[in-house]
Amino acid sequence: MVAVAILAAGRGTRMKSQLPKVLHSLSGRSLLERVLNCAASVQPSRRLVIVGFGADQVSQSIAHLADVELVEQREQLGTGHAVQQLMPHLQGFEDDLIVLNGDVPLLRPKTLQALLETHKTNGNAATILTAQLDDPKGYGRVFCDSANRVTQMVEDKDCSPEQKQNRRINAGIYCFNWAKLAQVLPTLQNNNNQQEYYLTDAVTALSPVMAVDVEDCQEILGINDRQQLADADRILQTRIKQDWMKAGVTLVDPDSIRIEDEVRLEPDVIIEPQTHLRGKTLIRSGSRIGPGSLIENSEIGENTIVLFSVISDSVVQATSRIGPYSHLRGHVDVGQGCRIGNFVELKNARLGDRTNVAHLSYIGDATLGNRVNIGAGTITANYDGVQKHRTEIGDRSKTGSNSVLVAPLKLGADVTVAAGSVVTDSVPDDCLVVARARQVVKPGWRLNRSNGVSEPLPKSNSSPEA
Ligand code: UD1
Ligand code: CA
Repeated sequence: MVAVAILAAGRGTRMKSQLPKVLHSLSGRSLLERVLNCAASVQPSRRLVIVGFGADQVSQSIAHLADVELVEQREQLGTGHAVQQLMPHLQGFEDDLIVLNGDVPLLRPKTLQALLETHKTNGNAATILTAQLDDPKGYGRVFCDSANRVTQMVEDKDCSPEQKQNRRINAGIYCFNWAKLAQVLPTLQNNNNQQEYYLTDAVTALSPVMAVDVEDCQEILGINDRQQLADADRILQTRIKQDWMKAGVTLVDPDSIRIEDEVRLEPDVIIEPQTHLRGKTLIRSGSRIGPGSLIENSEIGENTIVLFSVISDSVVQATSRIGPYSHLRGHVDVGQGCRIGNFVELKNARLGDRTNVAHLSYIGDATLGNRVNIGAGTITANYDGVQKHRTEIGDRSKTGSNSVLVAPLKLGADVTVAAGSVVTDSVPDDCLVVARARQVVKPGWRLNRSNGVSEPLPKSNSSPEA
């Protein structure tokens, strides 16, 4: 049994942000959420999160995780002070405690599991994760004896020039025997350059302490500023994209594509350049997405094409074609074999199978049957300035170009709407509806170029002289 505590109380001054650092997002998930997910991989009996700066916001962001205990650190006096706050909560706790920095989000579960394993098999008082970095700047340095026992840990800001040469750094990932840690926590001093109580001082007060080097140094990147946030995001994207390519997805120009980690892709999906896939999105086999598309929290059926389009919170069923330049949002459901074309916006609309909205339309709050054809420029006028209203269109109906369908409105099956109509009343099945002024043609009129008004031509001009 093991408990996990996550240090998440710091402001993250170097982020220069109103948002607490651990709530900044990497590929769609906050740093804290990522660390919590990693922690879950050791099946902890308890998960504690130490909150302080922006405590309300941080607590709210994890309120859906019922088993997480929040521990408040009112003043942020250092990582050691943060862990001291656990003492009343872990009184009588007899097992090991894993402590994770909330700003180290790329740690792999298997690395954490291996660290815990080493800790337990060696019966250590503490086991810490370290790395050998070419550029150790900013990290605390770790010094060990020949038996790999930690003898000294010095923060970057407290290092002498010689100590700075040490490339072995503290990753901010620790396993402790809690009973032993609890004994040394009250003895911490803050006589260092930052006047903080360091958790690292508690580590060196214990023995035996073992250091374990991480294999892949990218895993322990700590996020202190926006540059490191961008670096971490790039690393995460590379991981995600490599995994999808291994799983049989083609990525054309992967560097230009972004895929968040809740996205699911089936084999033989093709993702073209400049495409962003976000949230809980699922793309089924044989579909081609992009170039230039953004899909968020949506499901795209098999063998569908999405070109230069934006789709959010929607479902597109198999063999449909979307785009170029379509926008689907607010719970659209497009049936099979549909065609949604150029400059078309669909909002909260349900379309049956083989229905087309091919050019220049807005279809909002509407239900369309099967094989409906919406003419170019058709608009559902769904908003009366106060409320939204629905439009229903039955199977096989067609609207002419530039029709306005003023909701609430119900067109039956096999209805034809003449081009340019403004339809305000519902229409039963099998009707032609013409709702526009009849064309008037007046012969014998011509523009008077001096005043810009069309006038009847003078009689003398039209009747030849005798
Ligand atoms: C810390 C380590 C350093 C290590 C590095 C790895 C200490 C003294 N130093 O340095 O050895 O190389 O992480 O990334 O531990 N926090 C609190 N309360 C506080 C202060 C910090 O909860 O009072 C939290 C922060 O929110 C953050 C984490 O602890 O998630 C680390 O704090 P940070 O100030 O970033 O420590 P570093 O200087 O990076
Ligand atoms: Ca840090």
